Amino acid sequence: MVSQEHCGAVLTIDLAAIRANWQSLRTRLNGAECAGVVKADAYGLGMAPVARVLSDAGCRTFFVAHLDEGIRLRAVLPDAGIHVLNGLLPGTATDFAAHRLVPVLNSLGNIDDWRRFCADRDEALAADIHVDTGMARLGLPPYEVDILADDPGRLDGIAPAYVMSHLACADVPDHPMNHEQEERFRRILARLPRTRASFANSSGIFLGAGFHFDLARPGIAVYGGNPLPGSPNPMAQVIRLQGKILQVRDVDTPQTVGYGATHRFAGPARIATVGVGYADGFLRSLSNSGSGFIGDIEAPIVGRVSMDLITLDVTSVPEDQCAPGGRIDLIGPHNPVDAVGDAAATISYEILTSLGTRYCREYLGGAG
Ligand SMILES: Cc1ncc(COP(=O)(O)O)c(C=O)c1O
Repeated sequence: MVSQEHCGAVLTIDLAAIRANWQSLRTRLNGAECAGVVKADAYGLGMAPVARVLSDAGCRTFFVAHLDEGIRLRAVLPDAGIHVLNGLLPGTATDFAAHRLVPVLNSLGNIDDWRRFCADRDEALAADIHVDTGMARLGLPPYEVDILADDPGRLDGIAPAYVMSHLACADVPDHPMNHEQEERFRRILARLPRTRASFANSSGIFLGAGFHFDLARPGIAVYGGNPLPGSPNPMAQVIRLQGKILQVRDVDTPQTVGYGATHRFAGPARIATVGVGYADGFLRSLSNSGSGFIGDIEAPIVGRVSMDLITLDVTSVPEDQCAPGGRIDLIGPHNPVDAVGDAAATISYEILTSLGTRYCREYLGGAG
């Protein structure tokens, strides 16, 4: 456990905001079920505390990527439905059954393996059938869907939980792929044995009721990322990252700062050095890009992000508000996770899942 006093930055995770975000997505679904996607340590925010708060809010179905994540989640939530997106690797069926995990079957080969496993145990175990409608990543490709539709007996002895698919462009509401995938999905559902269906991720929920089906699988919006890039974020912000100021110094022109001397001051200025770097997942692409905030005052990042340190131009911050031991918002009310993602030339997902292990983590609004 990293202590408040000894760390380079404090990461605050607001579990009440996570709960409120999930509830608002569920309301938007008008009766369809709302799952929680908690893979990658709940997008970097801590799988156990996040899963507990979602479960308390009424979430009954969870998605993880890896079997190992599923096994760890089972120890937290003994009764939840836990679905494993990355599917069934050879030799893992016994572990799925032992931990009551639902594999997402991503190919005919996966389906055949699970059917044989169920037959050997003489038990119809639950599994999802993932059909690919446009990602070409995981899921039965169209030619395997044809084979399955012509021979649905291949599902005999399996208890299908959901037929699911995944949207490629849901964050671009008017992208033609969205309706193309929806239509493909509906055509596939009509050809397969009747089962509940799951389609929408966070952004997909906002595409309208036609995309909701029986179960939605939001991740990023639960964690405060904007499901509608380019429009105001309807979700509550969940995290705040406050770096600690280690040193403040005045510089005179002509002076550069940091590795590679990539920033040169045009005149006298003041720099704050903060104890956060790329070893904390504070991406190096934030070099000379993005800002911290002290109160409402912006302090641009100047120079390169190094392993344990960044430097910010605090010339416009009053001296009494900027001293060693003080804090500066690196992610906060004025620079939310999507803005930091833009500044780093990436997306909120990568900012969250990169959040490092050296931060002191404080959970608000829940057991933590
Ligand atoms: C298959 C699947 N469903 C749902 C999600 C959740 O997506 P989002 O975080 O965009 O809501 C993901 C995330 O990558 C996914 O891979």
